[in-house]
Amino acid sequence: MKITVLTLFPDMFKEFTNESIIKRAIDDGIVEISFVDIRTYSKEKHHHVDDTPYGGGAGMVLKCDILHDAVEDNSNSNTYKILMTPQGRTYNQNIALELKDKKELLLICGHYEGFDERIRDYVDDEISIGDYVLTGGEIASLVIIDSVTRLLNDAIRKESWEDDSFSNGLLEYPQYTRPLSYLGKEVPFVLTNGNHKDIREFRLKESLRKTLHKRPDLLEKRNLTEEEKKLLKEIKEEEK
Ligand code: 6GU
Repeated sequence: MKITVLTLFPDMFKEFTNESIIKRAIDDGIVEISFVDIRTYSKEKHHHVDDTPYGGGAGMVLKCDILHDAVEDNSNSNTYKILMTPQGRTYNQNIALELKDKKELLLICGHYEGFDERIRDYVDDEISIGDYVLTGGEIASLVIIDSVTRLLNDAIRKESWEDDSFSNGLLEYPQYTRPLSYLGKEVPFVLTNGNHKDIREFRLKESLRKTLHKRPDLLEKRNLTEEEKKLLKEIKEEEK
């Protein structure tokens, strides 16, 4: 996958792409990420990219001609163009799974107070990472780069994300490693005796228990299987 980020602050991304799974994915050629400074599309002597709002009011507005030139110059017919904005659809794991199948992503970061409304006509999607306001789209872009890259072939083994919290609509089951006993807290016995059928059931049940306690809203949205209904009933009985 190719990811291009349009930003006024390309330096903000440098450290991030030099570390960990993201760096490995880049080194392995699974993802190619570049950062383009929107300012290079300014035709003005002092490289201004914004101007005062028509109708008055505080702050400056990113100009649509500059943004449009930057979008056109960094996209083709395969590019899925995403405007990063608090007005976009709220990002989640399902959107990450949708984006991982795109050939190319263009992430457009606004900054300052906002951008000219007309730029919305030149993008395919608008994404927000939650109901709060950031000073710009850069951190939100990093969230997308990180969550999509880890889903791409080989960046990590598929089994390690299929069980992720949210990937199947439930929170992930609890994990344990050595020591078997820590300050009197024991690893659940079922995980240590090698019975794979019992382990699978234990994990599903504990996933359901965690989701019930921490994110009951996820359970309400879910079409429960008969097995899940049975396990949830057991959980509720146990906890009476
Ligand atoms: Cl994508 N941009 C900005 N500026 N603020 C946000 C956001 C994006 N997502 C949540 N808050």
